[in-house]
Amino acid sequence: MRSFASYTTSLLPLVLLTFVSLFPTTARAATAAQWRSRSIYQIITDRFALPDPSTPGLLTVPNPNCNPGDQTWCGGTWQSIIANLDYIQGMGFTAIWISPVSENYDGPRTPYGDAYHGYWSQNVTALNPRMGSSDDLKALSNALHARGMYLMVDIVANNVITLNYTNPDLTPFAFNSPDQYHPYCPIDFSNQTSVEQCWLGDTVVALMDVNTENQDVISLYNTWIASLVQEYQIDGLRIDAAKHVRKDFWPGFCGSAGVFCMGEVFGGDVGYNAEYQGYLDSVLDYPGYDYLVSAFTIPGPGNISGLVDAFHQGQELYKDMSVLGSFLENQDNPRWANLSVDPQSLWNAMVWQFLAGGIPIVYYGQEQGLRGNADPYNREPLWPTGYANTTTYQLIGTLNTLRDFLINNAPNFLTANVTVLGATNNEVAIGRGPMVAVMTNRGSPPVNATMGIIGTGFGTGQPLTEVLSCQQVTTGSQGSLLIDYGKGGHASIFMRTNDLHGSGLCGEYTNVNPDINGLSTSNAALPSVARQAPWSAALFAAILVVVLAYAS
Ligand SMILES: *[C@@H]1O[C@H](CO)[C@@H](O)[C@H](O)[C@H]1NC(C)=O
Ligand SMILES: *[C@@H]1O[C@H](CO)[C@@H](O)[C@H](O)[C@H]1NC(C)=O
Ligand SMILES: *[C@@H]1O[C@H](CO)[C@@H](O)[C@H](O)[C@H]1NC(C)=O
Ligand SMILES: *[C@@H]1O[C@H](CO)[C@@H](O)[C@H](O)[C@H]1NC(C)=O
Ligand SMILES: *[C@@H]1O[C@H](CO)[C@@H](O)[C@H](O)[C@H]1NC(C)=O
Ligand SMILES: *[C@@H]1O[C@H](CO)[C@@H](O)[C@H](O)[C@H]1NC(C)=O
Ligand SMILES: *[C@@H]1O[C@H](CO)[C@@H](O)[C@H](O)[C@H]1NC(C)=O
Ligand SMILES: *[C@@H]1O[C@H](CO)[C@@H](O)[C@H](O)[C@H]1NC(C)=O
Repeated sequence: MRSFASYTTSLLPLVLLTFVSLFPTTARAATAAQWRSRSIYQIITDRFALPDPSTPGLLTVPNPNCNPGDQTWCGGTWQSIIANLDYIQGMGFTAIWISPVSENYDGPRTPYGDAYHGYWSQNVTALNPRMGSSDDLKALSNALHARGMYLMVDIVANNVITLNYTNPDLTPFAFNSPDQYHPYCPIDFSNQTSVEQCWLGDTVVALMDVNTENQDVISLYNTWIASLVQEYQIDGLRIDAAKHVRKDFWPGFCGSAGVFCMGEVFGGDVGYNAEYQGYLDSVLDYPGYDYLVSAFTIPGPGNISGLVDAFHQGQELYKDMSVLGSFLENQDNPRWANLSVDPQSLWNAMVWQFLAGGIPIVYYGQEQGLRGNADPYNREPLWPTGYANTTTYQLIGTLNTLRDFLINNAPNFLTANVTVLGATNNEVAIGRGPMVAVMTNRGSPPVNATMGIIGTGFGTGQPLTEVLSCQQVTTGSQGSLLIDYGKGGHASIFMRTNDLHGSGLCGEYTNVNPDINGLSTSNAALPSVARQAPWSAALFAAILVVVLAYAS
């Protein structure tokens, strides 16, 4: 229980903030409802793009031959992100998430290299001069907003770095009193108090745990985050190590920020992850990531039923699945291409990510097939790829275009439940609004197999377009569909051909035939039973017929 006095102290910054927020120039404040329809490209600033070496003021000499194994700065900056926003927007992204912007440790090289990634926070209230100036960060924010895009910034509040865990020097930190840190202990991951109060890192590079129960820490953090968000017009926060801070710290922090917060809760347990949505707007969908890996990677366990079960568990347990951060790789997990060499596995998983998942997040370089495994090899420089227009780059563009079109035209596309229409060991079919998608883990080689689906919600003899191939198909009796894997294990996305008018997809140019009412009309005609069917073995059997004919 906090005393009245401590409430008064902690309310003071809020009172000041309320006053400051009366000035209208500061009122961007993107909410969860606004972020829900966004699509995010995740960037490690040091690795995304190189600035011109003649740029004045650079603290890192741009290194064209950047080797991630060297664990040192390669030279990317906020300005070099600005110079390459066309590449990002060319895939249809409507937001970027950049690595932490706060000042990092910049002393002699540690046994684990240098702080190029931004997670070795030192003075949280200062900017990292390696990434540019305050004006540069403002310029990035302005450039994004001019394109209608959002800026999400990664925030490290749980810890600061020290190389001396027994006798840390507190002078470089924003908090410099010993009682503003929890005493050293290694984390026991089976004990939540220990997860929250003991130290990440190890005894070589220790991540000193900030005492987020301390009132001075709370006020400084809340005041700092409010001013950071205002000064740089930040639209959302990605919260590093969110599960390593007591849960009830976050509502005050994110309330002060006044923008959407997405927390990193590392781990595969749906229930554990879902609990954090009581304190943060959103969490990264780590459990969903694990299940996508086990469902789609080749070779892999091919565990589609695990994915479907976890998805249904998520629908029960999360407050709002539509704002979860849906990803297939990131700076802490292996690149998809390192786990699975068959590109069809990625393309199928991406269809799930964009159409069944929450807010899609693509980690820079996934579109180029980068294939490093764990840290530091998954933090490759992007420039050696030449920012090529790859098949995956184009697929992401198609998926973003389709998702935006559905969001803008199909009623409640994002907030209605996704329905799993059926699943086998090799494929899963989902329905969402006027769209049916079928994903498979069969891989690229042709196979003599087909999958039949009924309960699609489409009518008999309905002309459909398969959005990824632009092939025209017609449904069989009661909307049934037959997918043929004779050309390999491709994903399929079906829409009524009429519903695609105005989408810009498959020749349906936005400005040529803007039949924007088409979707709501035809969507209303869907049999509601097919859309609201709860999952059960019996119903599954009733609505799904699978015909699998293998080559002998
Ligand atoms: C932290 O950064 C702020 C903002 O640049 C500065 O005013 C403050 O003196 C710094 N604190 C320390 C301990 O270096
Ligand atoms: C930590 O600081 C203490 C006291 O200054 C010193 O004796 C010790 O060698 C330091 N340890 C490391 C790892 O630098
Ligand atoms: C859990 O961790 C805390 C913090 O380290 C510790 O004080 C407590 O004794 C631990 N509880 C158990 C049951 O181990
Ligand atoms: C599939 O995943 C579920 C849930 O994690 C698990 O219980 C099951 O054993 C897995 N099956 C296979 C074949 O890996
Ligand atoms: C989504 O499905 C879950 C589980 O089946 C159910 O509890 C929830 O009410 C549904 N939500 C909506 C918006 O239909
Ligand atoms: C996975 O990454 C490691 C380290 O980056 C690399 O040596 C290995 O070749 C990669 N494997 C694949 C299949 O790409
Ligand atoms: C990428 O290639 C596709 C297919 O050739 C083309 O339609 C598209 O305009 C290209 N995109 C960019 C950004 O060059
Ligand atoms: C595909 O399988 C069917 C049914 O087993 C069989 O009749 C047909 O000959 C096979 N086709 C090929 C090309 O193997």
